[in-house]
Amino acid sequence: MISKLLKLIFRNFPVLKGKLWKFWYTYLGSKVITPELKFMNYGYFSDDFKPQLSQKDEKERFPIHLYHYLCSKSSIKNLRILEVGSGRGGGADYITRIFFPKEYHALDISTTAIQLCKSFYKKDNLRFHVGSADELPFDNQLFDVVINVESSHCYPNFNKFLLEVKRVLKPEGQLLITDFRSNSEFSDFDKLINENFEIIAYEDITDNILLALDKMSEKRKKQIKYFLPKFLFNISSSFAGIKGSELYESFVKRELVYHMYVLKSV
Ligand SMILES: C[S@@+](CC[C@H](N)C(=O)[O-])C[C@H]1O[C@@H](n2cnc3c(N)ncnc32)[C@H](O)[C@@H]1O
Repeated sequence: MISKLLKLIFRNFPVLKGKLWKFWYTYLGSKVITPELKFMNYGYFSDDFKPQLSQKDEKERFPIHLYHYLCSKSSIKNLRILEVGSGRGGGADYITRIFFPKEYHALDISTTAIQLCKSFYKKDNLRFHVGSADELPFDNQLFDVVINVESSHCYPNFNKFLLEVKRVLKPEGQLLITDFRSNSEFSDFDKLINENFEIIAYEDITDNILLALDKMSEKRKKQIKYFLPKFLFNISSSFAGIKGSELYESFVKRELVYHMYVLKSV
């Protein structure tokens, strides 16, 4: 019943969808305050991709893979980077340690998530900002690369986000973006992308996401039980893509697919 209502809202009321996601991630940031939970993405697994990780990073191997795989498709070193939808900051922390950007600005709409990030991560080249994807609080042509990991499905207006990214990117700057949609939503997505960017690389990574979800489901189930009230278990399990949940099954049936793009501003 709840999931049917949410689907209806997500499809037909984009502004309400944006408000609901903002509420959810602000709630999560106030409820789960441990630095142990660093990522909120579905992860990535492939037999051919196994970066060496420190003992600390090993605990979050699969969500880290998604960031590492995406960022290894471009060049980050000594550049000025913006991440939109940085969540609990695990990706920002990892990428600054491993890919050595000159500056990394991480932005999220959730004030509570950004508060946590500011207290967890203190580095000279890493800054956290509260802000919205469709109104980026930055000057024109400031960044070399914009990173966006599993966040754009929450935005009320994806086109506005793309135009904002184009505005803050330097000429020929890159947008590295990965997220899920239904196939029909992706045809609109591709149309908007083609109007503003050149596609440098594209991949369907749905199978890699499912493999990672298989590996992460037990741990995430325990975290949901530990941190969140019982009545939120089913809906949180679906949002978290737990094996067997409605969302997981949508990936299996390919009603939802997960794509990755490297785009150049034109
Ligand atoms: C599934 S989480 C992914 C977080 C992070 N990228 C990761 O991989 O762990 C989606 C994130 O997008 C953020 N978000 C949702 N709508 C947003 C918006 N309009 N502007 C900026 N961030 C937004 C949420 O607050 C949340 O932190």
